[in-house]
Amino acid sequence: MITNKIALASDHAGFDLKEEIKEYLSNLGVEIVDLGTNDNTSVNYASYGKKMGQYIKDNKDSFGIIVCGTGIGISIAANRYKEVRAALCHSTEYASLARKHNDANVLALGSRFGDSKESINIVKEFFTTDFEGGRHKDRVDTLGEKV
Ligand code: RB5
Repeated sequence: MITNKIALASDHAGFDLKEEIKEYLSNLGVEIVDLGTNDNTSVNYASYGKKMGQYIKDNKDSFGIIVCGTGIGISIAANRYKEVRAALCHSTEYASLARKHNDANVLALGSRFGDSKESINIVKEFFTTDFEGGRHKDRVDTLGEKV
């Protein structure tokens, strides 16, 4: 694992998957920071994407997982923070490349696509893959620049 502490956040649509991921990671001994939501009551995905963004901003070198129905809305919200590199991953290959090439620090998942077993495989791939650095480092360094 590239980290032993992972923050989780979801909206209502992502809540069940967030809980499954929490159980999987807890069983591996990973410390979980649960930023909510805490049940299936309808909430705004943007608030939880921003909670993750603020967490990553406040905690240098930290990692997170965000989940909403598609993974799109919550990742747009999180990526408004310059410290966040949230990658919406649809497969283990996406997860691998998001880490190797983009040094992604937040994994975004859509709960309405694929089964939870595949999502867990994506989590596993993401958090066991190192950033390659090299030619990718300068590119990644520019991602947080003000535009
Ligand atoms: C909630 O219905 C849904 O819009 C949300 O989970 C997400 O898919 C937004 O991008």
